[in-house]
Amino acid sequence: MFDMKIPLSAPNLCGRELDYVNECIRSNWISGAGEFIRKFEVAVCNRFKIKNAVSCVNGTSALLLALELSGVETGDEVIVPTVTFISPVNAVRHRGAAPIFMDCDEYLNIDVEKLQDFCRKECKMTARGLINKTTGRIIKAIIPVHVFGNPCRMEEVCAAAREFRLSVIEDAAESLGSYYTCGKFSGKFTGSIGDFGVYSFNANKVVTSAGGGMILSRKKTVSKKARYLIDQAKDDPVRYIHREAGYNLRLSNLHAAVGLAQLELLGQFLAIKRKNLELYRKLISPIAGLSFLEPPPGTRANLWFYPLLIEKEIFGRSRQETMKAFSNNNIETRPLWKLNHLQRPYLKCQSYKIDKAPRLFEKIINLPCGTGLREREIEEVVSVLVRLKGKNGKN
Ligand SMILES: Cc1ncc(COP(=O)(O)O)c(C=O)c1O
Repeated sequence: MFDMKIPLSAPNLCGRELDYVNECIRSNWISGAGEFIRKFEVAVCNRFKIKNAVSCVNGTSALLLALELSGVETGDEVIVPTVTFISPVNAVRHRGAAPIFMDCDEYLNIDVEKLQDFCRKECKMTARGLINKTTGRIIKAIIPVHVFGNPCRMEEVCAAAREFRLSVIEDAAESLGSYYTCGKFSGKFTGSIGDFGVYSFNANKVVTSAGGGMILSRKKTVSKKARYLIDQAKDDPVRYIHREAGYNLRLSNLHAAVGLAQLELLGQFLAIKRKNLELYRKLISPIAGLSFLEPPPGTRANLWFYPLLIEKEIFGRSRQETMKAFSNNNIETRPLWKLNHLQRPYLKCQSYKIDKAPRLFEKIINLPCGTGLREREIEEVVSVLVRLKGKNGKN
């Protein structure tokens, strides 16, 4: 997609990235243990009111670690949404556990009513934990994902987790800066609520460190363990004694330098995202059959993606036809990810009453949403939709 005239979500390196990277090179600290790593972690903790954050190479490895630290083992099961980038599902598989797929709600987040229903009707509580009646396996955790930056119904997720003794691993990879404005978690940022939270600083995210992730935890001891595991579980750094099998997942100082510079821009980026969406809304509102998927009430979403809902019967064009028109005009758009319960590695896994997700899948495309997007580019994107509607002749 590098040749696209208007990309979906390109990085916007307009802050002190180069200064900080130069500082790494001048000081000769480019890999682990450099000072930007600590500064980046502290900045994340301060910005999102998080107690403990450990940086690592990407969000997927942060999920893997969170699963391990939650006690998920080979043969266990973990509840995941079918609507998400596949990363958390793959993390469950690579931990040796099996995913159980849940449907989404109207905001694309995990359907909490079906989640409760599943735990009550399809499982039984035992001294060993929650047992899935179909498979006889223990369900250890749930991974709610804040899809496209929209905060999930965490009050209900946490209540179910408490009732059924599940760990909550909050996948906030896409929702950096999103928070709740009402209810029990009012003022809290996504990623700071579950037993674990996970951020991603992949290049398509609101802020990026090129590649990078963070594992967030409320408990210092758990965070300490994460830091130990990402550095090969070194018990003695001189004689190289290891009592556990660790990993090499540390973020480099260079990446942390870029991440810190980007984090300084977050406020500015979130404001740009809001302003751009406002313009899109204004230009799209006269076109019958098109509307944006609004964030859930009681939340302030970071608006990472701009999901457009296409009512084919009214707009007169399908999602595929609309995407084709964009592609012909060198504009990058994206559908919802293929649903995970339909992905080849997971076809045999259990899923529970999934019906909303396929319906939403047929309607949604994501429009360009990068923070470097210009007004005239937004107008160009909308002009494609206007022309499509015009050709269709319906009004
Ligand atoms: C919902 C979700 N979870 C996890 C990840 C994984 O993050 P990373 O790409 O940093 O491994 C991503 C995206 O990249 C994501 O969108």
